[in-house]
Amino acid sequence: MKVLGIETSCDECAAAVVEDGRNVLSNVVATQIPFHAAYNGVVPEIASRMHTEWIYGVVEEAVRQAGLKPDRIDGVGVTSRPGLLGSLLVGLSFAKAFAWARNIPFITADHLLAHLYASRLADTAGAACPPPAYPFLGLLVSGGHTMMCRADDFDRITVLGTTIDDAVGEAFDKVSCYYGMGYPGGAAIDRLSQEGDPEAFRFPLPKIKGGHRYDFSYSGLKTAAVNQLDLFRVRGRGEPDTKDAIKDIAASFQKAAVDILLRSLFRAVEDTGLTTVVSGGGAAANSYLRGRLAAVPGLRSIFPPLGFCGDNGAMIAGISYHYLLRGDRSPLAAGASPNAGRRRAPSGGL
Ligand code: KG4
Ligand code: ZN
Repeated sequence: MKVLGIETSCDECAAAVVEDGRNVLSNVVATQIPFHAAYNGVVPEIASRMHTEWIYGVVEEAVRQAGLKPDRIDGVGVTSRPGLLGSLLVGLSFAKAFAWARNIPFITADHLLAHLYASRLADTAGAACPPPAYPFLGLLVSGGHTMMCRADDFDRITVLGTTIDDAVGEAFDKVSCYYGMGYPGGAAIDRLSQEGDPEAFRFPLPKIKGGHRYDFSYSGLKTAAVNQLDLFRVRGRGEPDTKDAIKDIAASFQKAAVDILLRSLFRAVEDTGLTTVVSGGGAAANSYLRGRLAAVPGLRSIFPPLGFCGDNGAMIAGISYHYLLRGDRSPLAAGASPNAGRRRAPSGGL
């Protein structure tokens, strides 16, 4: 079954064709990054307007690159939650129109479940490890979400922990913006850190009071990293404009950000006995996170191919295939939602 997947939840206008939930025949991602860079963040109004202009061409290109005519598409999947409402509605409306015009099945998908699904995709060159067996621990790290869960199937997860304030990718973006390292911040900090000393600055791990042992917090780290810039100034040392200082800040911040993820993750590994960890989301591209997890003895750590970490249509087409296969369909009246609307496990989590 060849499924067209459409993703417009944030600032990537993306479409892909995936066969049988695994073989990616095409994956087109038109990024709006240059249009939001001046604002150091995604401007919802700009995002939805650009999706409206681009969606037709992006879908057309995805079908063309798959080597197909539109009438060879067997079903359509689209992100309907969570995300920016105006942006979601563009992809959702287009997907409905495409499915209705061709009289093919249509299904809506959850963006976060799709990120976790991404590691089950084989990339266009055919390279991918065998899909991980359920259950496993899922680590979702993106610009809008930071979540750890137990995954029992592609559509069945139990949320164990989430961030109580900022998302990890958001912290990368904010720190990078403050220091002028680049936008978006994740890739910029990752790159700068390669030559920095992760021990140069000590940023404390957050204390999460009365909370859940798998929760995360990034606002304290973000503030500490930003305050460090003020310390440079207050101490009369001027801006940290030497390349080394910037690289050291980047590497130290990145280490602390990953330490926060791993502290909760290791607790969950210990408590659940699950030793397979599947990551997903834009920050799953982070090379330091990948290296740290790969070095843990006894842990099987699985990451999506790099091209499927950030927002893309292939993960939507991939997960949608499984819904369509078992006969699930969404009505043409289906709506979009900015919220994940997911309940977490009761305290203790397991
Ligand atoms: O999944 P995604 O494309 O969009 C959301 O659903 O939010 O994630 C985007 C986020 C951004 O915050 C970006 O800075 C971060 O992923 N990111 C990274 C890296 N590449 C992208 N964070 C850390 N290291 C990276 N290499
Ligand atoms: Zn995402």
